[in-house]
Amino acid sequence: MSRTMKALLAVWIAVLVGAAGWIGWDAWQGKQPSLGGPFALVDQNGKPFSSDRLKGKPTLIYFGYAFCPDVCPTSLLLMETAIEQLGPDVPKKVNLVFITIDPERDTPELIKGYVENFSPSFIGLTGTPEQIAQAARAYRVYYQKRPGKDGDPYLMDHSSIVYVLDRNGRFVTHFTHEAKAEAIAKAVQRLL
Ligand code: NI
Repeated sequence: MSRTMKALLAVWIAVLVGAAGWIGWDAWQGKQPSLGGPFALVDQNGKPFSSDRLKGKPTLIYFGYAFCPDVCPTSLLLMETAIEQLGPDVPKKVNLVFITIDPERDTPELIKGYVENFSPSFIGLTGTPEQIAQAARAYRVYYQKRPGKDGDPYLMDHSSIVYVLDRNGRFVTHFTHEAKAEAIAKAVQRLL
């Protein structure tokens, strides 16, 4: 290889390494979550509830609906189980939040009865369809009404994610409803 070729090769390698580094940096920046953000909803007592109220404690949030036959109950039970594993006093130190994506049926009264079945410490939130849409958009939650079969009540298709927020209300990580309670407990433990 001639000296010129070697020099050219060296330059080319430098360009490639630089490009790879740049792409890596970009990907890393992309990983910085732009997920979550403020919302204004209504709690299970019919009172306005702003996301600022979650600050000061780590938070687990799940979007679903009370009529959900399977995935929602599994997820809420998972959240509750995870927190209980951390000790008897921990449930008071963590916000457990359920946000409905079916505000049409999930009134504050209905949500109150629903979430308290899982844990008395659950915060159940509803709101106007616009308020729910805003909160769901912030967390990139998908939901869609699906007509029931043979005159059955409608169902809601929805994404099923447990979001973990730190004490400042910032998104940290997420789990699916298939996660192990231990894994969620560990993630919360780090934030306590
Ligand atoms: Ni569901």
